[in-house]
Amino acid sequence: MAWRNSPDRFGWAAKVFHWLTAVAVAAMFAIAWTMDALPVGLAKLQAYGWHKSIGLTILAVTVLRLLWRLANPQPRYLGDSTWQRRASTVAHWLLYACLIALPILGWLMSAAANTPVNLFGLMVLPNPIAPDRALAQLLEEAHETLAYGLLALVALHAAAALKHHLIDRDGTLRRMLTVLLIVSAFGMATATAAPSEEMPPWSADPARSRIAFTFTQLGSPIEGEFKEYDVEIRFNPEDPAGEVRVVIETASIDTGDDDRDVQARSPDFFSVAAFPEAVFDATDIRRDGDGYLAVGTLTLKGQTRPLSLPFTLTVDGDTAHAQGSLVVNRQDFAIGTGEWATNAAVGDEVRIAISVTATRVY
Ligand code: HEM
Ligand code: HEM
Repeated sequence: MAWRNSPDRFGWAAKVFHWLTAVAVAAMFAIAWTMDALPVGLAKLQAYGWHKSIGLTILAVTVLRLLWRLANPQPRYLGDSTWQRRASTVAHWLLYACLIALPILGWLMSAAANTPVNLFGLMVLPNPIAPDRALAQLLEEAHETLAYGLLALVALHAAAALKHHLIDRDGTLRRMLTVLLIVSAFGMATATAAPSEEMPPWSADPARSRIAFTFTQLGSPIEGEFKEYDVEIRFNPEDPAGEVRVVIETASIDTGDDDRDVQARSPDFFSVAAFPEAVFDATDIRRDGDGYLAVGTLTLKGQTRPLSLPFTLTVDGDTAHAQGSLVVNRQDFAIGTGEWATNAAVGDEVRIAISVTATRVY
């Protein structure tokens, strides 16, 4: 699974950043309350040391995290409500602001109180400001107020994540949670929380799978297929819940005619040198009548559009066969430009037919 984000999902790095920070912030509150209650003595001093060192580590990790965020696409908001989308953006930036401002305030407070920070007992950091009792008092109040502001924000944030999961029933929490796989690899996750139980992985068999399409050229129907692609499936047919990601090598297009294939790979059509991959990414699989619907996006020639693939499924023991088809408009993805743009030469509608046989992985 990718480290980088895509327009639909968080990569592993973003998830690791998120949950490491969440655990560290929880530890910060636990230590803060403990150190506050401890009698004056070595244990209290050591607790302060841990609080300061972990707090400054959170600052460093947040700076790295924001740089990583800038270098990555931001997964699109799942949901239809504009005010909720805006509120989530504001809340996320406020969370980042707290993760930056709180440690800086703590560091300034420590310097003003003339208690320099010894980072994990490894190095003493320089005091950014000179000691000043009155200022230390002020900064302490600011640090405390902001800390409880962060706590309230996190409570709201977690409640919103649960609302997405339990009421809207979308993939918001799930797409952030899959990092539990990593955590469980380190033996820290509980057996019940592991999503692999809920959404077992399936491995597609290329010999028994096909991604084909039909279009019209000068009025005649032409069938073709993509020979090279990679399919990642997590799916629980009983629930149903799952994720599917299909990455197609556009250069592997085969329409049964060499000249036509060269044309199809050219910049007018798939522009395979600039856009070597087409990606169908579905994080929401739901029941639809007798079959299922994989709701996601198709990214083709740099254009990302929502796409829902209806499919039927037959499961026989540990082998599943999925079959689905849908019609897309090639113009949505700028496939066929220049003299090919009119639908007299090539029809706008292209039917895509997918047939995948996969076996369950244990
Ligand atoms: C101290 C604790 C936490 C902090 C500081 C925090 C911070 C953040 C931030 C800054 C983001 C935005 C990521 C980005 O798009 O750049 C985020 C996303 C997210 N957080 Fe947290 N979080 C915390 C705890 C939690 C908890 C407890 C939950 C679940 C119950 C949760 C669920 C989520 C989810 C689902 C997203 C992704 C939202 C989306 O898809 O747009 N977080 N969090
Ligand atoms: C995300 C980072 C941080 C969080 C969530 C956090 C949270 C807290 C909380 C909840 C308290 C207790 C407030 C109270 O009830 O009195 C506290 C106190 C304190 N924090 Fe932090 N803190 C963070 C970072 C830092 C850093 C980086 C430093 C220093 C370098 C620091 C230094 C202190 C000190 C010295 C106190 C005790 C103040 C007093 O004497 O009452 N904190 N912090």
